[in-house]
Amino acid sequence: MNKKIIVTGGLGYIGSHTTIELIQNNFQVVVFDDLSNSSQKTIARIETITGEKIIFEKVDLKNEIRTGQEFSKHKDALAVIHFAAHKAVNESVKNPLNYYQNNLFAILNTLKWQYELGIKNFIFSSSAAVYGSPESLPISENNKIQRPLSPYGNTKKISEEIIEDFTKINSDFSAISLRYFNPIGAHDSGKIGELPKGIPNNLMPYITQTASGVREKLKVFGNDYPTKDGTPVRDYIHVVDLAKAHIKALTRLIENKQEKPLEIYNLGTGNGFSVLEVIKSFERISGLKLNYEIVTRREGDVPELFATTDLAFKKLGWKAELGLDEMVKSAWKWEQNYRNHNI
Ligand code: UFG
Repeated sequence: MNKKIIVTGGLGYIGSHTTIELIQNNFQVVVFDDLSNSSQKTIARIETITGEKIIFEKVDLKNEIRTGQEFSKHKDALAVIHFAAHKAVNESVKNPLNYYQNNLFAILNTLKWQYELGIKNFIFSSSAAVYGSPESLPISENNKIQRPLSPYGNTKKISEEIIEDFTKINSDFSAISLRYFNPIGAHDSGKIGELPKGIPNNLMPYITQTASGVREKLKVFGNDYPTKDGTPVRDYIHVVDLAKAHIKALTRLIENKQEKPLEIYNLGTGNGFSVLEVIKSFERISGLKLNYEIVTRREGDVPELFATTDLAFKKLGWKAELGLDEMVKSAWKWEQNYRNHNI
């Protein structure tokens, strides 16, 4: 059986962890990546961890002709897992056209070429951002979709609409959209992890970079929210658990088990942790005192987000297995390896 899978953005944070899981489940992986927010060194790290080679094609998916050429080389693939996208929320607010152009051209060209060349299965990397400021908690897949708070989030909402329209008229095309909550953590080998370019926007890399001395102090954005300790609550999910969910979704598509042309699943743990709880977990695990201060709220933050996870369990047979401490421990191991050995 041919088990070739194209992974766009396969050298990025979630893409690289998923590539490892794919290889460990006997898939052959072809990575398409433009290296705009990833490093070519990740290829060697993945190969060291798995003991297998990956095929790498440097391609900018905004370029329709080049994208077509690359897909033509790999038209024997069974499916595409589409991660390639810009993902920094505040950057997208400052430069919306760049985000719409990058994220939307990439999905349009991917869908067009894969379909034309006969690759009929598609997994999309979506986000809890499509729920906007949620009306009720926990957030189920049936929660109302609302205008996301950032252009980044809106590219995810629009992308899902594009996929929905596309699957409606192409009955031989199947898609699954996975809505991630807050992915953190790293591979337990300590060889790959999140490596944001420049100053991190997200909590976990900011914590680990502060502890390793790259950043002076973590700013905690607000402690006057209506939550358990006043700081915002999020559904943090280990990136390796998240990667495993993609294998389950892929298997469902390949085995033709999907019940609708487009299926949508939340990927979270169902547990909400506050910013202070994440900091406490980090201090306990690292044995360090984190330098942080409470400052005013960050624009666009909602008080609380956490998922219902029943649907993914029922239909994909997947649930998150790793807890907050394991997420924090692996993120810290990666940060230390990266800083000390420049791997
Ligand atoms: N936070 C801080 N200080 C920081 C960074 C973050 O206090 O330096 C706080 C935020 O205020 C928030 C929490 O930590 O309360 C988590 O913030 P992140 O930036 O890590 O994550 P978000 O929940 O804001 O964003 C995540 C994804 C986005 C996605 C969004 C959808 O990173 O891609 O969820 O809900 F759009």
